Amino acid sequence: MCGIVGYIGTRPAAPMLIKGLHQLEYRGYDSAGIALNHENNQPFIIYKEKGKVSNLETAVINDQPAATVGIGHTRWATHGEPSTTNAHPHLSMSGEIVIVHNGIIENYKELKEQLERKGYVFKSQTDTEVLCNLIDYVYQRNGRQLMAAVSRALYHVIGAYAIVVMECKDSSHVVCARKASPLVIGVSEDNTEYFIGSDATPMVEYTKRVVYLDDGQIADVRRGEDINLINLSDHSAADVNVKEINLDIAALSKGGYPHYMIKEIFDQPRCMRDCMRGRIVRVRDYSGNGEHYEVHLSALKNFKAKLIRARHVIIVACGTSWHAGLIGKHLIEQMCRIRVEVEYASEFRYSNPVVEKDDVVIAISQSGETADTLAAIQLAKEKGALVFGIVNGVGSSIARETDTGIYIHVGPEIGVASTKAFTGQVTVLAMLALALGNALGTITEEEYQQTCHELTVIPDKINQILEQNDRIKELSAMFADRHNALYLGRGFNYPVALEGALKLKEISYIHAEGYPAAEMKHGPLALVDEHMPIVFVATHQGQYQKIISNMQEVQSRKGRILAIVSEGDNVAGHICEHVIEIPHTLNALVPLLSVIPMQMLAYHVAVAKGLNVDMPRNLAKSVTVE
Ligand code: AGP
Repeated sequence: MCGIVGYIGTRPAAPMLIKGLHQLEYRGYDSAGIALNHENNQPFIIYKEKGKVSNLETAVINDQPAATVGIGHTRWATHGEPSTTNAHPHLSMSGEIVIVHNGIIENYKELKEQLERKGYVFKSQTDTEVLCNLIDYVYQRNGRQLMAAVSRALYHVIGAYAIVVMECKDSSHVVCARKASPLVIGVSEDNTEYFIGSDATPMVEYTKRVVYLDDGQIADVRRGEDINLINLSDHSAADVNVKEINLDIAALSKGGYPHYMIKEIFDQPRCMRDCMRGRIVRVRDYSGNGEHYEVHLSALKNFKAKLIRARHVIIVACGTSWHAGLIGKHLIEQMCRIRVEVEYASEFRYSNPVVEKDDVVIAISQSGETADTLAAIQLAKEKGALVFGIVNGVGSSIARETDTGIYIHVGPEIGVASTKAFTGQVTVLAMLALALGNALGTITEEEYQQTCHELTVIPDKINQILEQNDRIKELSAMFADRHNALYLGRGFNYPVALEGALKLKEISYIHAEGYPAAEMKHGPLALVDEHMPIVFVATHQGQYQKIISNMQEVQSRKGRILAIVSEGDNVAGHICEHVIEIPHTLNALVPLLSVIPMQMLAYHVAVAKGLNVDMPRNLAKSVTVE
């Protein structure tokens, strides 16, 4: 997820673009750039810098460029590490086309090979430069008409995009288009200025009149003229619907949500789809009659032999990522019958662990910068193990240190309490276990197809749970004045109980513990009385009857129980004070659903206590020191 901006008007574009990029920095901040189109048939003026937008600002501010048309980008890398070469905007080989892009071009490799056969040479590792040269290829062969060239080029593209494109022969317009990634055009009262952005944050201070591009639309935005909006599917003219927005900048960068955390909780269905895009694919059967699912993970290509030969997997991580690792253990052991250990990276690095050279170490990290996890990786490499990264931070230290890995593609996570990264990590671990289990033949084709299909419908099921937000807010009152809480689960839901407890701890400052439900009898049951709120994750999978009896043990000691149960459960409601019903799913995938009410509960408790939900005390989003 990156941030893109554009400006066509009467004022110097550079300061407008830089200001807009600052607003969008929450979307990505590993490199940034702008391109200015100051005069017809003159080369573009391009600035690109690694790191935050402030680095770019320093480079631009001295020059005070006068151009009144330009585009800009702040990056969250997907293809190619953060660098000035991979930073946007990208220029075509002819120098006549320049582009900024937010999204992922899935078939960029095929397109790149075709363009290389036609003599195109590429400077960066990005999918975006491929699109830029594809547009240039069509442009040069169709009368150099930008709008036509962009729409024809997009016909060959598979994936998600929001793009803004300029041509140096005409400095009075830009062409923009979108599919799956957001794009907004701000319109000044007198149509003399147009502002373009991934959302309305870059334009709110200048205009409240915006046009949201729909999926599959392309627009030619020219100074002093009306927007020319076209549907890509049939090239028919589309209506330009100008809407009034009444949100301030802070609210908008949170997408209208009061906090980044709740925005990121509600982002999870889209993030999961982004995470699975191009990885869980429908393929036509050899017979040509039907279709079936396949899991495509490019990371496995070069290391498949070593991965399926592994008899021992060690997962290293910290915090929420460690909880995802515990679910990874269940997934890999059940689907691949390979022994898995899950280690706190901070303990692993100093424990002189037994790591054999055929072992595989999986390092999980949202930020990709966590010091303990990085050190654990280096130790594992010294001991000859293959190190596989599951990371959100593209180009981060951990991504660079590991031998191979998978990005979870959930976009920047700003709230310190990790939410969408957790479901992204579990989704990747499920896809990894499926791919390895299928290669090893340790899961049946039926289980493989069923689990792939279920993964693709989980985002809709998460939406069903998100609709219970108001009710979960009411239920959070059960914790507001408490000082302690217990979270209990079994099997796949035990790590979810740990994660629920961590979320409550880190943002509401209430002491909470997650425990395997059957362990209560071995000590924690002593804590239970009418003052202790207890959250049970008691969905219908695994040992349902067992957890019902664990619930009765607590109920008989007057514990106040809130249970996460499966839709239609007609037992738990008679034992608990409150139940939250979630849709049914497969045992292996239930954490992707049962964790959602946990995240929402902790969020509402912290809000009710008036705490800083996104920046809780004593914590940092990325722990780069040990
Ligand atoms: C989780 O909400 C916390 N922010 C923290 O426990 C976090 O999971 C831990 O610091 C690991 O971070 P990482 O995933 O970026 O490595």
